Amino acid sequence: MGAMMRRRESAGLSSAALLLLSAAAAWASGTPVRARSGMVVSVQAEASRIGAAVLRDGGGAVDAAVATAFALAVVYPVAGNIGGGGFLLYRPAQGDPIAYDFREAAPARASATMFLKGGAYDQTVHQDSAWSVGVPGTVAGLHLAWSDHGKLPWKHLVEPAIRLAQEGFTVSDALARSLKKYLPEMQRYPASVAQFSKSGVPYPAGDILRQPDLARTLERIAESGSEGFYSGETARLIAAQMETSGGLITREDLSAYRARRREPLRGSYRGYGILSMPPPSSGGVALIEMLNTLEGYDLAGMGFGSAAAVHTIVESMRRAYADRARYLGDPDFNPKLPIERLISKAYAAELRASIDPESASGSTLESLEPEAVLESTQTTHFSVVDAQRNAVSLTYTLEDYYGSKIVVAGAGFLLNDEMGDFNPGPGLSDATGRIGTEPNLAAPGKRMLSSMTPTIVTEGGELLLVIGSPGGRTIINTVLQTILNLIDFGMNVQEAIDAPRFHHQWLPDRIRYEPWGLSPDTLSLLRSRGHTLYLERDSIGIAAGIRVNHAEDLLEGAIDHRAPDGAAIGH
Ligand code: DON
Repeated sequence: MGAMMRRRESAGLSSAALLLLSAAAAWASGTPVRARSGMVVSVQAEASRIGAAVLRDGGGAVDAAVATAFALAVVYPVAGNIGGGGFLLYRPAQGDPIAYDFREAAPARASATMFLKGGAYDQTVHQDSAWSVGVPGTVAGLHLAWSDHGKLPWKHLVEPAIRLAQEGFTVSDALARSLKKYLPEMQRYPASVAQFSKSGVPYPAGDILRQPDLARTLERIAESGSEGFYSGETARLIAAQMETSGGLITREDLSAYRARRREPLRGSYRGYGILSMPPPSSGGVALIEMLNTLEGYDLAGMGFGSAAAVHTIVESMRRAYADRARYLGDPDFNPKLPIERLISKAYAAELRASIDPESASGSTLESLEPEAVLESTQTTHFSVVDAQRNAVSLTYTLEDYYGSKIVVAGAGFLLNDEMGDFNPGPGLSDATGRIGTEPNLAAPGKRMLSSMTPTIVTEGGELLLVIGSPGGRTIINTVLQTILNLIDFGMNVQEAIDAPRFHHQWLPDRIRYEPWGLSPDTLSLLRSRGHTLYLERDSIGIAAGIRVNHAEDLLEGAIDHRAPDGAAIGH
């Protein structure tokens, strides 16, 4: 309830919401936005509008996704990107689904011990330096998906982003605050300060932000596709920036990068079909493992937000996140990942047998190590459905807010700091939360383990839900809870996305919960079962979803109330 009230208040204040009266009206009422033909839901209204316009022009879901992704790279620099990476899950109405993996790769000079300085782990080198930058994948991934499934010319899909970069766009209140907050961290990089401030002074809300260098880079991409990024002028500028900043990526690393087609993971939950992202994401494995475990319980009977339901869901989270830490990494470097077993119904039955309904299991290091405890990251997800009911679920990231904070001088885009998602070094596991297991150690060309979980749910073989979220390791639990809210607790897609969330990730052994998410008596019942509770001041996740209403042949879209500038735009 609290979350819903906050949302109503902010509806009166948000400039983006004012621009979008129809979306805002639905947004404030807990009702999804409805449309018949097609829909795009993203965290920036302008990007959603550009994607929806592509659908109106006869483009398919992949075309709209490409245009939305490039637009977000301009208007949502916190996470929208061409200098990062991500995953695109595509489910055509007819034919086989496919996942595109455009996760960043480690440069050729990377090694498992690269984050150790004089034998000691150096967190700055790992997570906040030019060595944190992985070889970007976004442009290659979008281009590969488009070359397989695009209907409209590539150029046409990049052009709206070029215009936005050239002519500029209005800085929202949320973006102004965020740029101001991160400007001090950008001071080390002159091109970043030049791009995201007015000679060192933060942009106030309402000003126009123009990015002419980015416009020129996008023009090269519009003209030459992937080549416009991975070779020629853009590659030269990236390599030059790496030399200036002391980074590792060379022109050879850039020309060697390839996006990959992967087989989506398939699962089922109470008769619904689940399609999600395989490794190098941990998302699909953990999501399906948790859903399989929870299928054995009457969550609806326990009731939304009840101590019994929270306890049961948390125990499934604890087990899936332990397996995530223990087993998962880049499949191309770990040929024996036990994926089939982890997502099997038989394994879920074993896990259920270990869950005590009255008592928290506790998380122990056992012989293995916990996940890193630190969480300070940013990412974005958007969902697209077209008139034929082809669907795209896309999550991409720079890792941290504004990635490495390094804008490539002369090229106008931010580089990621995704190398921070590799484990810090061999054997570097300790009780503070570091993990040094083999599957996710850095190596040349290897992709770092991710939690991004673009997901699609089907019903009777038809598209039902397109869903995903940012939030680092919390992503998987956000997607999980949105699905449970729809299927078990009977919420509509807006309610399912807006409902308060909680998070448990094995270690640290505690339940993080959003303000007003759990009532005092629920908290006390959970404590009596042995759980440690932690009130999360920030929100958990920003879900963006589209549900197909088969009875009325409508699309129902919802952007999270936690994203003040977002919108579901249909046509
Ligand atoms: O790939 C991952 O799992 C992380 N680099 C994603 C970071 C993230 O989602 C942060 N979002 N707020």
